[in-house]
Amino acid sequence: MAKTVGMLTGGGDCPGLNAVIRAVVRRADDAGWDCVGILEGWRGLVEGTFRDLDLRDVSGILPRGGTILGTSRTNPYKLDGGVDAVLGNIRDRGLDAVVAIGGEDTLGVAAKLYREHAAPVVGVPKTIDNDLSGTDYTFGFDTAVTIATEAIDRLHTTAESHNRVMVVEVMGRHAGWIAVMSGIAGGADAILIPEQPVDYDQVSEALRKRHSRGKNFSIIVVSEGTELPGVEDTGETDAFGHVTLSHRNVGETIAREIEQRTGFETRVTVLGHVQRGGSPTPRDRVLATRFGLKAAELALAGNFGQMAALRGDEVVAVSLEEATAELKTVPPEWYAVAQAFFG
Ligand code: F6P
Repeated sequence: MAKTVGMLTGGGDCPGLNAVIRAVVRRADDAGWDCVGILEGWRGLVEGTFRDLDLRDVSGILPRGGTILGTSRTNPYKLDGGVDAVLGNIRDRGLDAVVAIGGEDTLGVAAKLYREHAAPVVGVPKTIDNDLSGTDYTFGFDTAVTIATEAIDRLHTTAESHNRVMVVEVMGRHAGWIAVMSGIAGGADAILIPEQPVDYDQVSEALRKRHSRGKNFSIIVVSEGTELPGVEDTGETDAFGHVTLSHRNVGETIAREIEQRTGFETRVTVLGHVQRGGSPTPRDRVLATRFGLKAAELALAGNFGQMAALRGDEVVAVSLEEATAELKTVPPEWYAVAQAFFG
């Protein structure tokens, strides 16, 4: 009887998920395995909701954003009997391997299931936030940075026409990668991230200096998780205990504080889920495809508890344990690149 590989996409969606699914199915099918899609992340394994996947199902999905399997932030460890249901459904559906495509939370569950129950799981690192250790880059990040950079470019022209300061709020959770990369690429005049303390007076002084050089506009990029004096978390959390960051309105706060201090007219743009939507960039399509092939190989070989990862230009296997041990935040030397152009 043919062996079967199941796959799921969990957490926030991101461009490139379908490219991974396509690659896993293509490689597994080549090896004579059957493929099963698990619907809506870990929820599909808790509830036992599946769909068969064959070559026709994955034809044409390479450039499509989102995920044909659906996603959720379901955490089986937070549900009564959740883990038993997951293990029971893996057994009952006859899954010889499960490819979990997700970020810190989805892969954290995979790591725990492997550690505690020797579950046959392998991981693929996805997230626009690029905050997973163990891999140099996650897929989805390049697309988010491309979208944010284009937004910054567009804001430049309107900022200049109106002599305004434009604040752009980007996603990234507790890591400032999207802000730093899009800010450098877009030539931002200040970039505020969770890893660095914020001083409103210092930012205002840098803008004043810039305006005294004859520049009549400025662009500030702020990451949603940036700690700002006077901004409290809402206390609202998801199933993994993460606070909801989009309600903190850091962009609005920055704009108000800067306008008050400098007198420069200021406007805010919150990019939000636009950063996660639409077609992946070519770089993300290629990375997702390479990750998918690697994950399929690990699954076919029974090499469980591992995650596909990018190290330099090589796609390698790293342990899920190592990959989910800590968040990868922006180191000072990366921030220094951005800082060289402030003010
Ligand atoms: O982790 C990806 C991400 O887009 C974060 O950057 C953001 O904080 C969060 O997900 C938003 O989550 P939701 O889709 O639940 O609003």
